[in-house]
Amino acid sequence: MDSTCRICGGIVKGSIDLGPQPRGNAFPRPGDVADEFFYRLVVGMCDSCTMVQLLDDIPQEIRYHDAYPYHASGSAVHRGHFEGIAQHFLDTELTGPDPFIVEIGSNDGVMLSKIAQAGVRHLGIEPSREVAEMSKAKGVRVLPEFFDESTAPRILAEHGPADVMFGANVIAHISHLASVLRGVKRLLAPTGIFVFEEPYLGDVVEQTAFDLLYDEHSFVFSVRAIQAAAERFGLELVDAEPDPIHGGSMRYTLAQPGARPVSRGVGDLLAREDSQRLGEHATLEEFAGRARRIRDDLIGLLRDLHGKGMRIAGYGAPAKTTTVTNYCGIGPDLVPFICDSTPSKQGRLIAGSHIPVKPPAAFSDDYPDYALLFAWNHAEEIMAKERSFSERGGRWILYVPDVRIV
Ligand code: TMP
Ligand code: ZN
Repeated sequence: MDSTCRICGGIVKGSIDLGPQPRGNAFPRPGDVADEFFYRLVVGMCDSCTMVQLLDDIPQEIRYHDAYPYHASGSAVHRGHFEGIAQHFLDTELTGPDPFIVEIGSNDGVMLSKIAQAGVRHLGIEPSREVAEMSKAKGVRVLPEFFDESTAPRILAEHGPADVMFGANVIAHISHLASVLRGVKRLLAPTGIFVFEEPYLGDVVEQTAFDLLYDEHSFVFSVRAIQAAAERFGLELVDAEPDPIHGGSMRYTLAQPGARPVSRGVGDLLAREDSQRLGEHATLEEFAGRARRIRDDLIGLLRDLHGKGMRIAGYGAPAKTTTVTNYCGIGPDLVPFICDSTPSKQGRLIAGSHIPVKPPAAFSDDYPDYALLFAWNHAEEIMAKERSFSERGGRWILYVPDVRIV
């Protein structure tokens, strides 16, 4: 199964096949699963620009609907992270006479609310209505649309060029990335920067984080592929900086060509990617083999524990949970429920596997013997919060980078 690269038109060979999958963030109601939508989750790399991408693509209006359930403010660590980023921009880039910052996919305003408090001109671009309303309540100005090359000139006409453009966990979600980059080229001030952070291919491969592959992650970026994409659309990659958030992300900085010096980090990371063989099909094929082993080990462990009468609950229902449970064939027979702190997910089901999502109290009011940690990227925060679970003998099951009990 091959397809055409969304960035350069090259050939994308499918290397990782995670089978039929529903939408990661669908969260159907219990009575609403009769005609669930499935697509085949296959990921591959472009032969010419090395961009890793989904072969099959779902229209974005279906993904980012009005009730899109992901709230970026849902974790204290994430709130701190985005407040830190806002402060950094306020201190370094937004210091001119009347600076202007644009955030693509501003979600519930976790970053821009801090900019708004500082009285700096800003615009959030957020097509999902419920989260956009939440950010408005925090004083954030929002354009309820998708960003692309047609929105950029309108924003430019109304507000002028952007000193900073930002996106977090959204740029790799946009299958019309080529159009976004054309829009950025247009809207970015001559000395402005476009900063975005997304899960990093190097970490995904190193940790065999196959659950980070789902319908919303149209791409998994590498420094090499972003450098090529930037150049293709008249921009320049001037910095790349790893960040442990979301289980391993990279923060990229693009600028107009020649406007900013290129940091040493870019060259260092490119060299590291070469030694990691990140640009080779074989690397993805080996990844697929390791994902199959995790699947076999995990389902084997859960069946074994279940057979011994152990009670197992899931912890955290990020979209990753949809990939793991559907790929491994984990249903409510093995994991009767998953607890999650997001109100809009509670009372719903994980798409495809139909495991019910309940509030955290379902976990803490009656501890199970084992907790399968789907939100493994928040392990530290969650394990600290649920310390009394471990103190009473409860054990955590992790599956990335391999299946183990802690
Ligand atoms: P994320 O990995 O995409 O940030 O999603 C994390 C999910 O885990 C989200 O649905 C909220 C949930 N969660 C909890 O239920 N409890 C917690 O303590 C944390 C940090 C997250
Ligand atoms: Zn390509």
